[in-house]
Amino acid sequence: MTKGIPKHIAVIMDGNGRWANARHLPRAFGHRKGAEALRELLKSAIKIGIPYMTFYSFSSENWNRSESEINDIMGLLRRYLQSELATFHKAGIRLKVIGDRSRLAADIVRLIEDAEVQTCDNTKMTVVMALSYGGRQEIVEAAKAIARKVENGDLNSDEITETCFGQELYTSEIPDPDLLIRTSGEMRISNFLLWQLAYSEMVFVEKYWPDFSEKDLIQAIEEYQKRERRYGSAAETA
Ligand code: FPP
Repeated sequence: MTKGIPKHIAVIMDGNGRWANARHLPRAFGHRKGAEALRELLKSAIKIGIPYMTFYSFSSENWNRSESEINDIMGLLRRYLQSELATFHKAGIRLKVIGDRSRLAADIVRLIEDAEVQTCDNTKMTVVMALSYGGRQEIVEAAKAIARKVENGDLNSDEITETCFGQELYTSEIPDPDLLIRTSGEMRISNFLLWQLAYSEMVFVEKYWPDFSEKDLIQAIEEYQKRERRYGSAAETA
């Protein structure tokens, strides 16, 4: 059975630093180019008609980078949220941010909240930005929320199911990704959407993120369409 366009594509945008290094440029240039690549890719995603896309924009581990690189990325994010909001809104994009906001600067949190409120009724596409995000931390927070419900007597421990656990994750109203794309040739998921990627197809692309284009996105979708997803069941025999 041929598969159509994936409903949800998750992307690990990797290789900005190496893209810049290869050109003897500061890493900040790579991130700037990466942000441009993201802007262009969203246009392609709308054209293709992908309903959900999630981008790993800043991981909980990225806080361990140098202060100056963190400042560069946060500055880029600030400007991105300011400059892209109108475009997002006009294009019918709903923006959602997942991750630990307590570590983000207060003005960035405000920009995120404003963007989420302003775009909440848009239905053409949902763009999820994972910021200060870690999959294990998300699962631990969900476990704590479930434990509190049990402690309060709102839930019995034998009523805990995958569905009720999933409802405590940041992504409760978002379908699991059908396809994960990671650029830069690395073949890991690096603490990204650990729960949600359980049955996703994975496509690893050699190119660094700033060079990832519409053509590469289409190729990744075509690769996905060739694969057979069985969710653990036996292959269909002809
Ligand atoms: C991975 O490249 C990229 C990041 C850690 C930051 C992601 C940021 C962007 C793509 C810019 C767009 C996002 C925002 C915030 C608007 P890397 O630095 O890990 O590259 P390397 O592995 O080659 O060092």
